[in-house]
Amino acid sequence: RRSFTVLAIESSADDTCAAVVTSDKRILSNVVITQLSLHEQFRGIEPMTAIQAHQRNMPTAVRQALEIAHVDIVRDVDGICFTRGPGMPGCLSVGMNASKTLAAVLNKPLVGVHHMQGHALTSLLTSSDAEMPQFPFLTLLVSGGHTLLLLAESNTKFKILINTVDQAIGRVIDKVSALLDIPWTPLGPGDALEKYCQDVQESRLIYLGDSIMRGRRDFSFSGLHSQMERYLHSQGGLGSLDEDHKKALAYSFQSSAFAQLEDKVHLALKWCESQSIYVNHLVVSGGVASNQYLRRRLATCVKEFDPDRDIGLVFPPPKYCTDNAVMIAWASMHRFLAQDYDDYGVDLRAKWSI
Ligand code: KG4
Ligand code: ZN
Repeated sequence: RRSFTVLAIESSADDTCAAVVTSDKRILSNVVITQLSLHEQFRGIEPMTAIQAHQRNMPTAVRQALEIAHVDIVRDVDGICFTRGPGMPGCLSVGMNASKTLAAVLNKPLVGVHHMQGHALTSLLTSSDAEMPQFPFLTLLVSGGHTLLLLAESNTKFKILINTVDQAIGRVIDKVSALLDIPWTPLGPGDALEKYCQDVQESRLIYLGDSIMRGRRDFSFSGLHSQMERYLHSQGGLGSLDEDHKKALAYSFQSSAFAQLEDKVHLALKWCESQSIYVNHLVVSGGVASNQYLRRRLATCVKEFDPDRDIGLVFPPPKYCTDNAVMIAWASMHRFLAQDYDDYGVDLRAKWSI
């Protein structure tokens, strides 16, 4: 039997994405039309602007995904999938309606995918055989909407080990990037913050207060955000800081945020051992996973946890860490292959636990 070819559509936040992927792991196209420049003036995603941009760009994204893949939708595409949730309702509906209509008129099977399962399973598509994560593995999802440590037990079974009690790490990174008035790079505020402080020496670290909550099985980043605001206030505001001081502050924020991630990874690994669950891989995904400094810190963290046990650290390539439709395609594949389809009237799930 020839491989199964999926057309995937993702529009849960501010990227309009379409991709064509096959069941034998060929990524035939990966189109991402970002809206970053539209949202910069709002310093965040402005819902109506995002919806309108999806509406404007979706036909182009789908058209390009098919053209780049050199597939004919009638002849070559076996199934159509889309992000059903979680995400911004108006944004999700653009991708969902495009997918449902295409699937219905072409009489193709349809699958609605959980966005976070997409992030969590990406590495199974993108890893080489030597680095391929084996179930059960730990997944750290760090994005603009989520901060989650998951135990992935199978394609469909995920256990939330640690979740955020307030804001997602990416959201706070974006806010702090705005607080420090760092100009966006083409990859956005998180990338801008990383590059802004990449040359700061460890000796310049500013102590902002404790924000790790050592030993607690929660993520929380609102406290760190407040500490940043308080520190700036205590110094007489952003205008009173010279460039070096500002850079040191940006670095210290990043370092504190990542120290919390390290502590929770450590806790999750310990918890797994206490349950006799021996995970061999930590997969780090979501937009924040493209941060190179985080990658180095986690590599050390995992090695220190158990120098004898070689826990593999897996980062999907950055373009598959941020929002994309390739991961949605891959997360739908096991359902298409099991002929577990959704019907054409399927609704969206703006809030949807994994
Ligand atoms: O996964 P993603 O593209 O979208 C969702 O939120 O689902 O993640 C976006 C988040 C943003 O908050 C962005 O600032 C952050 O990922 N991000 C980064 C970096 N690149 C993107 N954070 C830190 N360092 C980066 N290099
Ligand atoms: Zn995402």
